Amino acid sequence: MTWDVIVIGAGAAGLMCAATAGARGRRVLVVDHANKAGKKILMSGGGRCNFTNMEIAASNYRSQNPHFCKSALSRYTQWDFIGLVGQHGIPYHEKELGQLFCDNKASDILSMLLAQCDTSGVELRLNTTVCEVSKTDAGFTLLANDHKLFCESLVVATGGLSIPTMGATGFGYELAQQFGLTLTSRVPSLVPFTLSGKWLEFAKGLAGVSLTASVTTAKIAFTNQLLFTHRGLSGPAVLQASNYWELGEPISIDLLPGASLKNQMAEWHAAGNKQTLKNCLSQMLPKRFVESWLDIAGSNKPVNQYTPKEIDALHQQLHCWQLTPSGTEGYRTAEVTRGGIDTDQISSKTFEAKNVKGLYFIGEVLDVTGWLGGYNFQWAWASGWCAGGVV
Ligand code: FDA
Repeated sequence: MTWDVIVIGAGAAGLMCAATAGARGRRVLVVDHANKAGKKILMSGGGRCNFTNMEIAASNYRSQNPHFCKSALSRYTQWDFIGLVGQHGIPYHEKELGQLFCDNKASDILSMLLAQCDTSGVELRLNTTVCEVSKTDAGFTLLANDHKLFCESLVVATGGLSIPTMGATGFGYELAQQFGLTLTSRVPSLVPFTLSGKWLEFAKGLAGVSLTASVTTAKIAFTNQLLFTHRGLSGPAVLQASNYWELGEPISIDLLPGASLKNQMAEWHAAGNKQTLKNCLSQMLPKRFVESWLDIAGSNKPVNQYTPKEIDALHQQLHCWQLTPSGTEGYRTAEVTRGGIDTDQISSKTFEAKNVKGLYFIGEVLDVTGWLGGYNFQWAWASGWCAGGVV
């Protein structure tokens, strides 16, 4: 049988594209090698799916071409997706920073997409591995589970490399290369940092402790929660920073953003405070952290006994903690892949490859990477919807 459209990948972008194309009356088949559709949707947002963000802008995305994402994001906006969620009666709430989560379960979002596909007559075949794709005059021939499938338009929505145990593969990248498209370099992103040496020991001793911090890379700073782990540093501030970090680069961390230790010491001094620095700081920061940090700083005495030089040094250590992560936890725990198919070769309106008629790439497989906070799903919905409108 010949399909109008075959979508490889039943994830966020693939299902959105299939439902949109099906609703236009196109005969659509979605194939996925996994035994279940939308596995990443199910595990996202701690099981509650941070499905979009109320504040979406091109500046929330990284790509070699920062303009590429603009067209799709403006044609299918967060409000369009929120409207769809509303139509399906899915309860949701804002957690923080415009991030929208399901009140109940991430499966509400997956069920909604599958219902949309069902209504549009989309066929879904799971446990289906595509091992070969070739171009014909009429479209494409796919070899999947030893059967030949034919289609006019082929949409590649195979996502990135993160969490291989959930079905992630590099198949989309290989297909792109087969058809002469180039890739930008790919690295795990939105991922915890690993540390070594004395900072690893420091982090290990504090595993489980979290505090608000500002993490600054060479390009950008993020203020949010930082979590110490047995391997290094995690938490939203660190994951966001990882999206802008290159291996070998130092980072700087302000462990008490929005305050000044120097001013605080002056205040304590003026008030005649004779408590130890540990006691005073423990009112502002987690006690376990203060103890370990003062051990490293090698100092704890009554706050009125510090010299200006000592105060300067402590201020510097607390507000400008300089360190170089030894790496990241890699694709095993990364939320996304940064980099992918070079967008210069893809139409930002239709997502068709400029050099291969009928071949489309959408979602995370492209070199477009969003911030933490619902941005990556919004990219999947927007790119899927745009391609679904033309395939
Ligand atoms: P996606 O990965 O969703 O789908 C790709 C599909 O292709 C999969 O079903 C896969 O099985 C299939 N596939 C791969 N290779 C194949 C092959 N060779 N043959 C057939 N099928 C193949 N984002 C966000 O905005 N908010 C959030 O809350 C989260 N939370 C989150 C948590 C965790 C733990 C992770 C790992 C990721 C997130 N994300 C997120 C990121 C988000 O999940 C991701 O960006 C989107 O799912 C990308 O959508 P795609 O459809 O492009 O790929």
